[in-house]
Amino acid sequence: MENIIQDIDIVDRNSQEAMETVKTSKEENTGKAKKLYIESYGCQMNFADSEIVSSIMKENGYDTTSEFESADVVFLNTCSIREKAEQTVRNRLNHFNAVKKRKPEMTIGVLGCMAERLKEKLLEEEKIVDVVVGPDAYRDLPKLVETAEDGLKAVNTFLSREETYADISPVRLNSNGITAFISIMRGCDNMCSFCVVPFTRGRERSRDPYSIVKEAQDLFDQGYKEVTLLGQNVDSYKWSADENNKAWLEKKEKKGEQVEIVNFANLLEMVAKISPDLRVRFSTSHPKDITDEVLYTMKKYENICKYIHLPAQSGNSRVLDLMNRTYTREWYINRVDAIREILGEECGISSDMIAGFCTETEEEHKDSITLMDYVKYDFSYMFFYSERPGTLAAKKFEDDIPLDIKKKRLQEIIQKQQEISLERNKLDLGKVQKVLIEGTSKRSEEQLQGRNTANKVVIFPRKHYQKGQYVNVLIEDCTTATLFGKIVD
Ligand code: SAH
Ligand code: SF4
Ligand code: F3S
Repeated sequence: MENIIQDIDIVDRNSQEAMETVKTSKEENTGKAKKLYIESYGCQMNFADSEIVSSIMKENGYDTTSEFESADVVFLNTCSIREKAEQTVRNRLNHFNAVKKRKPEMTIGVLGCMAERLKEKLLEEEKIVDVVVGPDAYRDLPKLVETAEDGLKAVNTFLSREETYADISPVRLNSNGITAFISIMRGCDNMCSFCVVPFTRGRERSRDPYSIVKEAQDLFDQGYKEVTLLGQNVDSYKWSADENNKAWLEKKEKKGEQVEIVNFANLLEMVAKISPDLRVRFSTSHPKDITDEVLYTMKKYENICKYIHLPAQSGNSRVLDLMNRTYTREWYINRVDAIREILGEECGISSDMIAGFCTETEEEHKDSITLMDYVKYDFSYMFFYSERPGTLAAKKFEDDIPLDIKKKRLQEIIQKQQEISLERNKLDLGKVQKVLIEGTSKRSEEQLQGRNTANKVVIFPRKHYQKGQYVNVLIEDCTTATLFGKIVD
């Protein structure tokens, strides 16, 4: 059992949805006067933002520390995606309360999605908070912290249409030195009815592709071997040197006017060309937007990993419509068929699933299960529906599925996924797969761990190999979450 939990931890850490896990800062000692401690919750985009925040604070006289007791400034970079995510943060704030009593000069800041959602209200609700800063206002942090040091509360939750922090070089926190995340866009223009993200992250905007390529090149030059391009909906990445405004671009395109546009397939290609030794991953793909052009670009470059996180949310077209996902079950299946046709059976596919959305019937729930059986996801992130204030669903629909039914349906979905994960992993037995070594396995110093192209964790005896190397591993055994094997030269 313990091993299985460890395996899940490994998978979580490497995916976009490192949901509700905490990550503390690394110890950095460059002789700066003050210490910053930062904890991140939620998705990888939040984790990537914490690296931008650390960079901004570093420029302003702060080193990071991994012990909050010794920090001058404590930041919680928060998530609002489900009620539980917010509760975790509130519990953590309670925990900090005791330390703050002993050390009243310590500044406590809440950043990220919960800051954006609650704004000034958070100051009333959580008395120990001094600073509340939304995801587009991080450049203002040093000033806001100064205000707090003067004994005043400070808030900035302004959402921008332009901010992408393109020029900021992130301080890599908790890095293994081999794999890194790069934000390629911010915000989300979809309005999935259950989702709080459009409200907490603002409008979608794409980052300058040349700054992305430069960041990836710099990482490669420092010895990194894998980058994951991050966005809530990477397939709608679109950038133009003329004017970086989505509505403007779409108007030009409709009129058939020539504008030089960098779309997601183009960007993938630009990053893949840096070096065949630099692996490229990306997340998240939206089923309505993923194009055959992207799939063919993946096929063309060996170093673009054959793995797609393609959240379905539900397998029933009526529920998908209520969720405002703008695709049907048939459309989703068509996209999966295209993946299989262009990239083959080896391509990993994962999903997010929501159990017990408003008015979902038992039959409609079963459609989610049959979709899972059709697609054969390698793994999924599975949740029961949690109503979020202010979302379309909260306004329009009653959250009418009782908690015990939601939990029962979720359990069925988890059960199904475990069966399929094992089935999919068994298909790898006897195969030789290229693995990028990321470090030692948690269970033993004698074992190394890395991932294959399909994003599966592979564990094998160390021999004389080291992290950062590519090795060929013969897969000999598996659990639902991990592959085991040995290096073959
Ligand atoms: N941009 C990604 C998802 C980001 S949020 C996408 O479109 O797929 C990550 C996942 O959290 C979602 O895919 C969804 O499965 C889940 N989620 C979001 N809001 C939720 C809610 N209100 N209740 C339960 N799960 C939710
Ligand atoms: Fe939320 Fe939908 Fe945007 Fe994903 S695509 S972040 S689920 S609104
Ligand atoms: Fe990410 Fe949570 Fe915000 S999932 S975008 S940190 S609400």
